[in-house]
Amino acid sequence: MVGDVNLFISNDCGEAEIEVMVAEKSARKCGIGTEAIIAMMLYGIQHLGIKKYFAVIGDENQDSIKLFSRLGFNKVKETPVFKESTYQMTTNNETFHQRFYKEVSALKIGPYKFL
Ligand SMILES: CC(C)(COP(=O)(O)OP(=O)(O)OC[C@H]1O[C@@H](n2cnc3c(N)ncnc32)[C@H](O)[C@@H]1OP(=O)(O)O)[C@@H](O)C(=O)NCCC(=O)NCCS
Repeated sequence: MVGDVNLFISNDCGEAEIEVMVAEKSARKCGIGTEAIIAMMLYGIQHLGIKKYFAVIGDENQDSIKLFSRLGFNKVKETPVFKESTYQMTTNNETFHQRFYKEVSALKIGPYKFL
């Protein structure tokens, strides 16, 4: 395991916070972070009814800001006291597939099964 990706669903209004961590530095810049976010977002869209994602990112965390901006997140709020900002992206199944066709077509996302 080199890291994790998490979704925090705070209400049932179709919104969720997403975060990703590729903790193993030697595993960075290989596409893992991007793929993990896309897979998790697709799961949320298809199985949890999520339409709006947000990410809270430290203002000095340029790697993360670049990653989320590249995926289509826009800054919506600055929180200077914590030196962090909130980024947001609204999407649906159709626009997500159009935008990430190449990445999504290789994924098979199924419902969560508790082992
Ligand atoms: C931010 C973070 C998640 C990025 O993960 P990652 O796996 O390195 O991300 P990716 O590899 O998908 O993308 C990073 C860069 O590598 C590039 N890249 C992807 N695949 C590549 C490849 N095969 N060859 C060369 N470069 C590649 C991407 O284009 C991207 O370039 P850019 O930064 O110039 O835009 C990771 O650096 C991290 O965990 N940082 C610390 C914790 C953190 O910030 N967490 C976020 C809190 S929300």
